[in-house]
Amino acid sequence: MALVSLRDYEKRAAEIIPRHALDYYRSGAGDELSLRLNRICFDRLRIRPRVLKSGAKRDMTVRLFGDEYSMPVGISPTAMQRMAHHDGEVANAKAAASRGVGFTLSTISTSSIEEVAAGTPKSPKWFQLYIYKDRKITESLVRRAEKAGFRTIVLTVDAPMFGLRRPDMRNKFSLPPHLILANFEGQQATGVQSQGGSGINEYIYEQLDPTLCWNDVKWLLNFTKLPVIVKGILTKEDAIIAADLGVQGIWVSNHGARQLDSVPASIEALPEVVAAVGDRTTILLDGGVTEGTDVFKAIALGAKMVLFGRPALWGLANNGQQGVESVLDILRKELDLAMAFAGCQSVADISKEHVVHESFYAKL
Ligand code: LAC
Repeated sequence: MALVSLRDYEKRAAEIIPRHALDYYRSGAGDELSLRLNRICFDRLRIRPRVLKSGAKRDMTVRLFGDEYSMPVGISPTAMQRMAHHDGEVANAKAAASRGVGFTLSTISTSSIEEVAAGTPKSPKWFQLYIYKDRKITESLVRRAEKAGFRTIVLTVDAPMFGLRRPDMRNKFSLPPHLILANFEGQQATGVQSQGGSGINEYIYEQLDPTLCWNDVKWLLNFTKLPVIVKGILTKEDAIIAADLGVQGIWVSNHGARQLDSVPASIEALPEVVAAVGDRTTILLDGGVTEGTDVFKAIALGAKMVLFGRPALWGLANNGQQGVESVLDILRKELDLAMAFAGCQSVADISKEHVVHESFYAKL
């Protein structure tokens, strides 16, 4: 059967990806309320269509952090992608490059910074940073990303530790032994082996600095030449602190609902962040994005780029680079249709007036 939606790719991927890896990719924290909200809250928004102004073609290009992208869509960091397909992060990055969209490489990747850069020498890529207890490791990651030509540093700020992901606990998740955390080869342990619980949570607990604070963001802003985006902000309070420090971007995200359960959906949190700091920093969003209409809704509410992680993994599992390209093509087509039916000829035409919460109609 033809795969015509991101959901189709997800269903097919579930038949392909080995169980423990699939559980790791799919799971949210706790009872997965926030995971469900990431979808439900997109569904609660309505698009107000506008007729007779679609034009012959829509211009979806956007400029962000000095680069042009073919649409306001990008790929979020997800860890250990070679569990989904043997070409892993390199294939995912190549797909993004061939479609002119941004790719964010995870620190915890199974292909290294240099391998990904060599596979996609020309395209703009972003590097997601975790801050290790050993600051030398952190510093070297940043310098390597700069040297390899990455365009931004995406600092994850919502992960002093990892959330309770019950499937990983049950499975005693470990990275399959033929794979390694490729950024650390020759420096320190590169395996993720369960000591009795979720191996990845144990790794993070051991390696990452849980005392991370705003001073570290300040340090990073001074340390790196690249624009810094902080990823994992869900409140206006934190957004204001980040903007006051001078970060170039704020990535509204609940980390795929994998950290604290019961936090809002990213799309619910977006308006308060945009209202607080949208005029002085670039706002991005991920979390539950599955349809082109989701991208449209997030842009209407103030995001400048909308990213997704899991659907790229589903594409990757299906057919490596080509699978991810197909996923991006589907989303592009869906966004184009949404823009056409809403009467938007360019991304800048997508406005607040185009999207309302469902309660707007209940009140009438
Ligand atoms: C996770 C990390 C790797 O969510 O970001 O599993």
